[in-house]
Amino acid sequence: MQLARSTWQEVERYLQRSTGMIIPIGSTEQHGPNGLIGTDAICPLRIAQEMEAALDVLIAPPINYGMSQHHMAFPGTVTLRPTTLIQVIVDVVTSLRQHGFTHFYFLNGHGGNIPPVTSAFSELYAQQGSGELRCRLANWWRNDAVTALAAELYGDAEGYHATVSEVAVSYFAHPEAVKNVPMVPEVAPTADFYDAADFRRKFPDGRIGSSPQLATVEAGERFCHLAGEALGTDYQRFLLQ
Ligand code: NI
Repeated sequence: MQLARSTWQEVERYLQRSTGMIIPIGSTEQHGPNGLIGTDAICPLRIAQEMEAALDVLIAPPINYGMSQHHMAFPGTVTLRPTTLIQVIVDVVTSLRQHGFTHFYFLNGHGGNIPPVTSAFSELYAQQGSGELRCRLANWWRNDAVTALAAELYGDAEGYHATVSEVAVSYFAHPEAVKNVPMVPEVAPTADFYDAADFRRKFPDGRIGSSPQLATVEAGERFCHLAGEALGTDYQRFLLQ
């Protein structure tokens, strides 16, 4: 059940069955030569839809902007400051709390969101004192089933940014947007990086350690099913917390 395509009466009825909700969160940032700018939001939304097929769950509209400061040297990237993202999370959860939702499952597609989102959770817990509020951050690409399949299919070429698995999941979600782009070197470099200019200097085409030219719609479907199943179980456990 999608919040954006529901009526208020349907939401009111849902609240009688459950006070849990999935909120996909991603980013709008470069993902290398063949990865879509929306990859980090597209993946968790598609995985949430996978969970929706098996569970009675309400999915909020995705938060499409994230903390992407380090990608700002590439055109198309948009970033929220960490403080802005914290406020967005706090306001979204506070709004939904007023209607009776208690369990917020943030299904995340972007590593840069982890510190601000967990900081927002601390702000929310500080505001509520003791209460029913429960927030969880689930990073889909860190799920054991997902990392095992990525290791099996791609080994080290999975990489760290514009990874093969995330590009594959985005292609499964949007097969019309698949791009065929030659990449040199085949596997992108890895290094520590600091600001946006440093990132672009070290990773000129935007990838870190990956070979996303290996991404296929078929593999994306496998990742999506695996993640949907594993995270569905995780979500059900979370509701009991
Ligand atoms: Ni990404």
